Amino acid sequence: MRTISQLIQFLEESPTCFHAIENTKAELDRNGFIRLSENESWNLTSAGRYYVTRNDSSLIAFTIPAGSWKTMHILASHSDSPCFKLKENPELETEGHYIRLNVERYGGMLLAPWLDRPLSAAGRVVIKDPHTGDYVSRLVNVRRDLALIPNLAIHMNPDANKGYTYNPQKDMLPLYGNITAKDSFMKIVSEAAGVEVDAVLSHDLFLYNREKASVWGAENEFISCGRLDDLLCAFASLSGFLAGKKEQYLNLHCVFDNEEVGSSTRQGAASTFLYDTLTRIFLGLGRSTEDYLMCLADSMMLSADNAHAVHPNHPDKADPTNRPYLNGGIVIKYNANQKYCTDGISAAMFRDLCKKADVPVQTFANRSDMAGGSTLGNISNTRVALHTADIGLPQLAMHSPYETAGVKDVEYLIRVAEQFFA
Ligand code: CO
Repeated sequence: MRTISQLIQFLEESPTCFHAIENTKAELDRNGFIRLSENESWNLTSAGRYYVTRNDSSLIAFTIPAGSWKTMHILASHSDSPCFKLKENPELETEGHYIRLNVERYGGMLLAPWLDRPLSAAGRVVIKDPHTGDYVSRLVNVRRDLALIPNLAIHMNPDANKGYTYNPQKDMLPLYGNITAKDSFMKIVSEAAGVEVDAVLSHDLFLYNREKASVWGAENEFISCGRLDDLLCAFASLSGFLAGKKEQYLNLHCVFDNEEVGSSTRQGAASTFLYDTLTRIFLGLGRSTEDYLMCLADSMMLSADNAHAVHPNHPDKADPTNRPYLNGGIVIKYNANQKYCTDGISAAMFRDLCKKADVPVQTFANRSDMAGGSTLGNISNTRVALHTADIGLPQLAMHSPYETAGVKDVEYLIRVAEQFFA
């Protein structure tokens, strides 16, 4: 079983969805998985282990059992987290003295905790290979304190502590340098990517919080870091996937991008990525469409995305009878309006799985007078329909750049994932 230090390494080395997928690929490579490409034909064999990516930000890894198999087990999570995306022409000159960066929000983020923290930039730049003429992505992480969004002093905003409405175009632009830093941002990014600045044709760049992960509390029972939603689940899913025996089911570890912006993209859970991959697996193994549909009817998916723990300062915000706590176990998420797709059957299956793995289970539902969020399970089901439970780990401060979860819960999810893939 992998440790918290490996989790921390994964979190810190994955400042963007592109890095999370790159680090997942490296782990799969180390475990002997074969890389497939969507634009090449696939030669699949029984007992084979493979993975495929789309946009370098979503990934599906799968293992084919050596013997006969009739069903699939799919564990899905997401690679993206709410953050600031750099706009085109990112530098903004201010009164001939400062350079700020022009950014926009990605996803439903908590804005206030981004203030007064050292930030850096990461993502990918795209260049043209001079020999093949192909467009090539280069991952980039500047890896130093590069920008900061300063608060307005209390003297200039005396009502700040009475609640403040942040204007993302006015309040949230980070200071990047003195005026002498003009035209240097893309140079710094290109240098970190190891390419000439003139070679960069385009980019997908994001800001991230430089604060290191921390394990803390009286008994070191809590972990805090950026991007726990949902890299915690992506990490536990991969750990269980690699450790599971993989003898009985077609097992799939899926990580989708763009969950935080609704999933309706080329590589999101609402895309054809999972459907296309399953189609090619069945075709590649000489199975028919009817085989696929029969298999689907008998298969199971877990949609793993973090859940809200009861907040110690705001216990009234949680449902009166469904109250997950940090380190209390894995959360099954319910919603009558099917924002979460857990139903009687899938919940029974999941509870049974947790029992086998000897892992505690908690339940989450929104207060009936609160709307709450959604996730990728029900969205994915409109493309690939199978029994699905929405689950996740309890956490605090969801969509802050520094979120908090329970150390024990990570181990629980790894154990359940391992059992799921056994
Ligand atoms: Co999430």
